[in-house]
Amino acid sequence: MTAKTIPLIDYRARTAIPAVADARVEPSGRLLDTRGRRLHDLRISVTDRCNFRCVYCMPKEVFGKDYVYLPHDALLSFEEIVRVARVFVAHGVEKIRLTGGEPLLRKNIESLIAQLAELRTPSGQPLDLTLTTNGTLLPRKARALADAGLRRVTVSLDALDDDVFRRMNDVDFPVADVLRGIDAAAEAGLRPIKINMVVKKGVNDDQIEAMAEYFRHSGHTLRFIEYMDVGASNGWKMDEVLPSAEVLRRIDARWPLETLQPHYSGEVAQRWRYRDGAGEIGVISSVTQAFCSTCTRARLSTEGQLYLCLFATQGYDLRALLRGGASDEDIAAAIAHVWQGRTDNYSERRSADTPRAGRIEMSYIGG
Ligand code: GTP
Ligand code: 5AD
Ligand code: SF4
Ligand code: SF4
Repeated sequence: MTAKTIPLIDYRARTAIPAVADARVEPSGRLLDTRGRRLHDLRISVTDRCNFRCVYCMPKEVFGKDYVYLPHDALLSFEEIVRVARVFVAHGVEKIRLTGGEPLLRKNIESLIAQLAELRTPSGQPLDLTLTTNGTLLPRKARALADAGLRRVTVSLDALDDDVFRRMNDVDFPVADVLRGIDAAAEAGLRPIKINMVVKKGVNDDQIEAMAEYFRHSGHTLRFIEYMDVGASNGWKMDEVLPSAEVLRRIDARWPLETLQPHYSGEVAQRWRYRDGAGEIGVISSVTQAFCSTCTRARLSTEGQLYLCLFATQGYDLRALLRGGASDEDIAAAIAHVWQGRTDNYSERRSADTPRAGRIEMSYIGG
């Protein structure tokens, strides 16, 4: 993984910054990138480890026994994460999502959540604080997470049929335990719950209707995600992508659907509701309908590299600033400089021949 080292000197020489900064800041003080996209979400990966080996994310052939994970001292400490998060919030970030790997594997994650839950936006609001999990540890941890101040969760679940589910997670984990995890999260009040299903054609697309049926009337929002060419190891091929339009066609044939307005501009999922009142679903179509033009997400890796796109090959080394004696102002200026120079729009340019070598893995940067 290459990381661009941000020379501290750039950010201490403040006079070099305003020319860009003035042009790319909203009157509210929020940062804009080169395409006028606001910095709104921060996604923080807290571990590069996972107890699953999902075929589209951590294929066993690559993430086997010999795979070398980050050593403990490379990881940002909770203190460092909270410090960076505070600076992002001062820059207008309103939503923080913890990811991984599997974030609930990070020891004492409740303590990090409790500290992040204390942060307030400049207008005094609490953050939309959430995490993405495979659900395996929710039966044990849901209550403690809610008590620590987590507001809601998103659970990855790719099939309802036990054989298909085991084939997707590739560690023989039973689906019943994840379903128990979802129930535990609901009981603990971690709502609204979203369920993310990555659809891989020919592998789990026969599960679409069963998943829809199971989550109708549950109050949870099931979202179908187009399989993406993230990272360099999942062997993605375009003909394994089932377009969202086909997912919607199949569901609509059984339970008629109608569109819903987005909750906010730039929402990743397109929303639909069942006409019979059984709830809503979503589709995330980054392959067939790229949403880069409204992408407001920054990503912080487990070791403190700042990435501006899921498909990036280079990050910006915030850990070097944190551990090199930078002040909060230095870190704030570095983040502003990086965001204001942002041009990323990979999904708009995707092509079968784009080289994948060097791309960050989803398990390293989070979903
Ligand atoms: P909610 O506020 O809960 O709706 O969260 P979200 O819209 O941020 O969605 P979530 O974090 O659950 O993301 C779901 C999936 O969408 C991810 O796991 C990715 O597969 C995909 N995704 C999310 N953000 C991006 C993005 O910026 N680019 C691309 N290409 N895919 C994304
Ligand atoms: N394509 C789409 N989504 C992916 N995720 C991981 N790998 C991929 C991929 N190749 C997302 C899924 C999962 C989350 C942890 O990361 O949404 O639920
Ligand atoms: Fe783990 Fe989530 Fe990746 Fe599956 S998709 S291997 S659960 S990080
Ligand atoms: Fe954002 Fe990159 Fe995804 Fe486009 S491909 S939506 S720029 S993360």
